[in-house]
Amino acid sequence: MDPVDMGDDLAGVLLSEAQIAARLDELAAQIDRDYAGKAVLVVGVLKGAVMVMADLVRRLHTPVQMDWMAVSSYGSGTKSSGVVRILKDLDTDLTGRHVLIVEDIIDSGLTLSWLLANLRSRGPESVEIATMLRKPGAAKVDVDVRYVGFDIPNEFVVGYGLDYAEKYRNLPFVGTLAPHVYSH
Ligand code: IMP
Ligand code: MG
Repeated sequence: MDPVDMGDDLAGVLLSEAQIAARLDELAAQIDRDYAGKAVLVVGVLKGAVMVMADLVRRLHTPVQMDWMAVSSYGSGTKSSGVVRILKDLDTDLTGRHVLIVEDIIDSGLTLSWLLANLRSRGPESVEIATMLRKPGAAKVDVDVRYVGFDIPNEFVVGYGLDYAEKYRNLPFVGTLAPHVYSH
């Protein structure tokens, strides 16, 4: 999917493919340094983190296992419901593991703080967070996010895994939508 396929639904490109790739190179190098000599269980949060997960782990030299969780905190709109549900749990026992949660975006931080508490209760050796994008609201939540791709303005974004009503996840860049899309 590219900008032409978006027609006039696309308001603008916030982060290009090249910007995302360059930042992932930096994050992967940092993760390799931090986990030297350790094995990491990388936990991707479905569905949004699929792209960043795939692109990040392929840059790592650190041995990884990958697992996935699906949680739901949003409906099909753009506002957080504040309710987190597990739709798919991990297959892996976290006891003694170094866990790295990979998120697409932290907005209110509600999903993340809930997830962190949930995974910490399972006896891991460590739990850290990597997120591709972070919005300003995340500052209100007292959670230490070790790896952040980009701090972005408080706008609704799509692409690179992120959806609006399950659409646009396959855009290779991060963009904003024209207002008329939301009023359909
Ligand atoms: P939080 O609980 O408010 O931090 O929301 C986190 C989740 O909301 C993310 O994993 C996304 O699925 C969704 N989300 C938050 N902001 C956006 C956005 O700008 N575009 C698409 N999805 C978003
Ligand atoms: Mg979503």
